[in-house]
Amino acid sequence: MEFNLLPGGTLTGEARVPGDKSISHRSIMLGALADGTTNISGFLEGEDALATVAAFRAMGVSIEGPDDGRVIVHGVGVDGLKAPQQPMDMGNSGTSIRLLSGLLAGQAFSTSLTGDASLQGRPMGRVIDPLKLMGAAIEGTNDGKPPLHITGAQALRGIHYDLPMASAQVKSCVLLAGLYAQGRTSVTEPAPTRDHTERMLRGFGYKVDRDNGVIGLRGGDRLTACDIEVPADISSAAFFLVAASIAPGSDVLLTHVGINPTRIGVLNILSLMGADITLRNEREVGGEPVADIRVKYAPLRGIEIPEDQVPLAIDEFPALFIAAACAEGTTVLRGAEELRVKESDRIASMAEGLTTLGVRNEVLDDGIVIQGGTMGGGVIRTFHDHRIAMAFSIAALRAEQEIRVLDCDHVATSFPGFDALARGLGLQISALAD
Ligand code: S3P
Repeated sequence: MEFNLLPGGTLTGEARVPGDKSISHRSIMLGALADGTTNISGFLEGEDALATVAAFRAMGVSIEGPDDGRVIVHGVGVDGLKAPQQPMDMGNSGTSIRLLSGLLAGQAFSTSLTGDASLQGRPMGRVIDPLKLMGAAIEGTNDGKPPLHITGAQALRGIHYDLPMASAQVKSCVLLAGLYAQGRTSVTEPAPTRDHTERMLRGFGYKVDRDNGVIGLRGGDRLTACDIEVPADISSAAFFLVAASIAPGSDVLLTHVGINPTRIGVLNILSLMGADITLRNEREVGGEPVADIRVKYAPLRGIEIPEDQVPLAIDEFPALFIAAACAEGTTVLRGAEELRVKESDRIASMAEGLTTLGVRNEVLDDGIVIQGGTMGGGVIRTFHDHRIAMAFSIAALRAEQEIRVLDCDHVATSFPGFDALARGLGLQISALAD
């Protein structure tokens, strides 16, 4: 599938984007390991979260739905998973493979985890290393890449692990292995990353402590089922936060968006650039803060992005690069080398597309410099990366000619129905089978 976009337009109206991907994954994982039945609403029916559902079904967990965002997970208890019949395919989902590898390291049975071409190119040494220190038997293929082979029935021991990179997936992997380890497992992070695992474990009645930046838990306790309402994903909302900010006359209300402090880098960065964003109706839903976000067009200015915001906006940079391309002046991003190991190398993928549209940019090892100005049109390659496809779709609002975005199938991993929702708000987008 490819997207065709006519230049220009204004975004208006109200929308609720699909459920948070990170929280959706974790709701299935912890629901499956809990004692009792977990009722989930607002679940993301995207391919990534569905890969996690399929994995737990393959391990004997009965899961009803998803049906209009509702999922019922009949928990089997921490010791109730069964050996899957075959290797489990995580598709495009880094969160599934990295979190599951921690959880599976503590099982009595062996497993193999694989994924699509993009996932098979992504680094897994970052989870293999700490799991081995805990006593796990886990091996990658081709220099620590998937498929991963985990030999079960290993006695795990709790460790303290200083994360070498700011990664919520690695943190969560170690903590989930810690559920099965003897004694205490703890981590420190070089910078705060999304804390949905810690919050949700607590919601399931599992004690997780945090003291002076050290996050820890003791193995051997049980989880108690609870109900989870998944907020709308701020990472999906980000495309419309930027879209409305760059398209003159726009005024959009995005409802029920998760505004966890470890996820709001995009709001902070856009505000520093001069965006007109206001939060309304702030409330807490199932341990996660949520708000309705109103965003109106405002002229943006280029900034030096504060490095402490990078982990808090790590998935939103494709959209933010489009904001930078439309801003007056120069935007500089540094300290973002993690972008090179996402679903694609997002610095390289975005730089190529920006250059195609005539936006001046300079690639750095750990970031990019973007010169704001006018944008032409052209044909954009997405490198099978959902967020590259959506970022260049919204760029059309300020482009001078048509934009054709190739290879957009992966948008369904995180944002099924993106084109219809975007069209409803005013983006001149059509999806064509290629
Ligand atoms: C995620 C963590 C981040 C993020 C990914 C989801 C999670 O990855 O990019 O989309 O759910 O824990 P890293 O841990 O690699 O930074």
